[in-house]
Amino acid sequence: MNEQMHLSSAVEPALASSGDERLEKRLELAYEQENAHSFGPRLISRRSLMWMIGGLLSTSAVGAGYARFVEPAHVQIDSVTLAIAGLPASCAGKRIAQISDIHIGAYFQPEDAAAAIQRVNQLDVDLLMLTGDFVTVRERDRSRRSELRTQALMSLVEPLRLAQMPMVAVSGNHDHWGGVDPVVRMLNEAGVHLLRNEAMPIDDGLWLAGVEDVWGGRPDLGAALRDAPAGATTLLMSHSPDYFDNVIQRNAPIAVQFSGHTHGGQVRLPRPTPGPDGLFSYALIVPEYGKRYPIGLRRVGERIVYTNRGLGSWPIPYRFNCPPEITVFTLQQA
Ligand SMILES: [Fe+2]
Repeated sequence: MNEQMHLSSAVEPALASSGDERLEKRLELAYEQENAHSFGPRLISRRSLMWMIGGLLSTSAVGAGYARFVEPAHVQIDSVTLAIAGLPASCAGKRIAQISDIHIGAYFQPEDAAAAIQRVNQLDVDLLMLTGDFVTVRERDRSRRSELRTQALMSLVEPLRLAQMPMVAVSGNHDHWGGVDPVVRMLNEAGVHLLRNEAMPIDDGLWLAGVEDVWGGRPDLGAALRDAPAGATTLLMSHSPDYFDNVIQRNAPIAVQFSGHTHGGQVRLPRPTPGPDGLFSYALIVPEYGKRYPIGLRRVGERIVYTNRGLGSWPIPYRFNCPPEITVFTLQQA
């Protein structure tokens, strides 16, 4: 079965259709109508609803100022220990960092990206994973948008080159929607290894695989895992966290999936008792392909999925109770 069939979406017919032009038109439509869903009696886009939430925050000047300028700039470093059954003893203690959803060209600036990379340099990690959505520009005119997008992307090259450890990446939906080729070029120039449905060894008996994003790309888990030897511990990067259900359904030999995409919802309201995810907060809105695993760590059977809250913001510049995140994972034997 086509992998996209597992996860339904309004843009999927474009992926099945022939002809780059039709695909491009549909991806353009997805860009314009991001996450149109039904809320109540009429259709309203996720972007509109997020702006309404921003408007509500703005009713308090202090709240608006905090959510617009303070929290988005306060990048938090989250340390997570991953207990993995079958992890080679030699890999115990290995440290890997994750950054996601930079969305350069929207509200996150190149100097913010440079500062984030410098912080990763202080974390004594062996590897940095970048889990997609590198760029998003706010420009309605299509031809102008393409130019601005390429400019924004190239502004990431120097910040990424500051990294003192190897970097690996996967593409996100925004990377596909505007055309993935400039993203590939930027990552090449920055020295980032992009995994497009492929895997690479990162230690003895430890492999890292990456799939294209399910929303706009063409993920192929079979191809991604083809080179990973049986018996190895294999980690997977997938921009969209809900791809994890596909991993589970196919009983794929993946120990941990690393994702982003949701930004944790960006605006999280407190709740008096923990929700089903054990958290004392909840997001009003999360995007398609991020509803099942919207934030943090979830263990399903032997497998783990981790959803990073991202660095940038989109479609609104607000964050509340959901700061930007750099994650540091330490691998341990279960
Ligand atoms: Fe995304």
